Amino acid sequence: MDHFLTLADLTSDDLRGLLDLAIELKKEWRGGGNRPLLQGKTLGMVFQKPSLRTRVSFEMGMLHLGGNSLYLSPFEIKLGERESVPDVARVLSRYVDIIMARVFRHSDVMTLAEYSRVPIINGLSDFAHPCQALADFLTIIEHKGQKLQRRKLTFIGDGNNVSTSLLFGAALLGMDFTISGPAGYEFPADVWQIGEQFAALSGSRLTSTQDATEAVAGADVIYTDVWASMGQEDEVEERRKAFQPYQVNEALVEQANPDVIVMHCLPAHRGQEITDEVCDGPHSVLWDQAENRMHAQKAILVELMS
Ligand code: CP
Ligand code: NVA
Repeated sequence: MDHFLTLADLTSDDLRGLLDLAIELKKEWRGGGNRPLLQGKTLGMVFQKPSLRTRVSFEMGMLHLGGNSLYLSPFEIKLGERESVPDVARVLSRYVDIIMARVFRHSDVMTLAEYSRVPIINGLSDFAHPCQALADFLTIIEHKGQKLQRRKLTFIGDGNNVSTSLLFGAALLGMDFTISGPAGYEFPADVWQIGEQFAALSGSRLTSTQDATEAVAGADVIYTDVWASMGQEDEVEERRKAFQPYQVNEALVEQANPDVIVMHCLPAHRGQEITDEVCDGPHSVLWDQAENRMHAQKAILVELMS
């Protein structure tokens, strides 16, 4: 693996390998025995958007591995404004050993990868959030076991960066995937096609429906995300109206399997896409998910640097 930009670049073996490494690193961390696998290495973190989890979990991950990290805020680099994206890649990759970037346009993270001398990690773009999905599948394995075949993940929301990465991951791992949201907010056809190509190999079943109750029937995992992603601020009102019937509340969760787990990448807009009762209720695994960002990303860092 040269870069980590989207799960669509991985094989199912690559994804399984990363998950196994994350499990191993988490076990070591729990036992208080972090290995300094990235001693003396520095991660450069370029942010065009705000973050809690991505920033802190990458920084802590590098600390555990014996390395350092540099936080570069949206106001410092001004990627593509103060300096072109290729020039940022050329310069930054002369200083640091690996780069994580959170960008608006996915094409910018691809351009960074093209011009960088060191590996690039996508810390969220408008197309994909692969670090999140890796942490999410780690969380699903912890709660549901290693065998994901015939397990069902239902995403309630739009075809966005988070659901795209979940679609690719589920289809690679042989997990069934259903998405439910209002008309006009589905995945673009090319995204669905990639999912179907993976599903044809793994045996996973992919479905899309506007009926949220039908979507959660038999679900082992219900996942939701904000109705308007960062960069879609001018669509907030329109989306709030369209997605109102798609709130993940107790009534919806009751339609799924009794031992369903509920997931959200966070930050959550409590009272909109998910209720307090569900966030803080018995099915919620939200905090495990947030912690697992750190373990999953340590696996990505170690894999890319080895
Ligand atoms: N889930 C996630 O990426 O959180 P942040 O935006 O806080 O990094
Ligand atoms: N879809 C959300 C995820 C935030 C972690 C966004 O892009 O804003």
